[in-house]
Amino acid sequence: MRKSILALASIAVLGLVGPAAAQSPIVIKFSHVVAENTPKGQAALKFKELAEKYTGGKVKVEVYPNSQLFGDAKEMEAVALGDVQFIAPSLSKFDKFTKKIQLFDLPFLFNDIDAVDRFQEGKAGQDLLKSMEAKNFLGLAYWHNGMKQISANKPLLVPEDAKGLKFRIQASDILAAQFQQLGAVPQKLAFSEVYQALQVGTVDGQENTWSNIFSQKFYEVQKDITESNHGVIDYMVVVNAKWWNGLPKDLQDDLKKAMDEATKVNNEIANKLNEEAKQKIQASGASKIHQLSAEQRAKWVEAMKPVWAKFEGAIGKDLIDAAVASNK
Ligand code: LMR
Repeated sequence: MRKSILALASIAVLGLVGPAAAQSPIVIKFSHVVAENTPKGQAALKFKELAEKYTGGKVKVEVYPNSQLFGDAKEMEAVALGDVQFIAPSLSKFDKFTKKIQLFDLPFLFNDIDAVDRFQEGKAGQDLLKSMEAKNFLGLAYWHNGMKQISANKPLLVPEDAKGLKFRIQASDILAAQFQQLGAVPQKLAFSEVYQALQVGTVDGQENTWSNIFSQKFYEVQKDITESNHGVIDYMVVVNAKWWNGLPKDLQDDLKKAMDEATKVNNEIANKLNEEAKQKIQASGASKIHQLSAEQRAKWVEAMKPVWAKFEGAIGKDLIDAAVASNK
């Protein structure tokens, strides 16, 4: 009697697990911290659409925007633990895992996003995607956002204007040094906390791209924004390396194809979304946008430049040289 119950039970289990397992899709969770109407927000949705299409439904991608599932502090840990499969943190947020990627935070390193693109596509940039493999993180792609602008509740036209102000920064020691260099006070804060910190005055200012300043409504609580283009906010799409390497080859190929195409779409729309966001901020009248004269810009470059020498040892001169070379 007992035997037949066991036999029945195992048939039931086989019956259920066999075909059901073959049919049920692999769920991929993609978590990020920005709004959907940003380059990263749109690209994550594009990846979902293409990944589900190319794998013929073998995977189901769930996208969680706006720090809904995990915020800055927890997302890397969540990938390590397998709680989420894809994330795309800003390049400033890998500080804890490698100093090399901090390269991207050096002020006035890249002239524009095209130079950033050339560097990322070159050998040095591609090697960086694999630079955290020993820590079990693998970079699959870079996604552009754009150049950073600096804001406060007063015009920031020369470096002295920032003196004594407290600025929210991402968790990066280079960004901390950049503001210390100005005689300002850097404050590391998760992205999801920035609006409130600006609103209640815990911090006086911040630096970000137009699309983030617009979609997070920072412009409503910042009277002045300087179009400084003093740095870049870009992303690395990162997965758990062991999980990725354990996927069947055909699935990996399909996901890679979806990622490559989503990357292309991201990089095509990033400039446009930032430009549109800037126009909307301008039209709102909530915040005044300031341009720098050539002399004013030169002063910011000079004031921030000592940061390069401070971090050259940690990043590596070769890498800095390769980045500088991408400007031409
Ligand atoms: C920030 O934390 O300021 C941004 O980099 C967030 C993001 O992912 O764009």
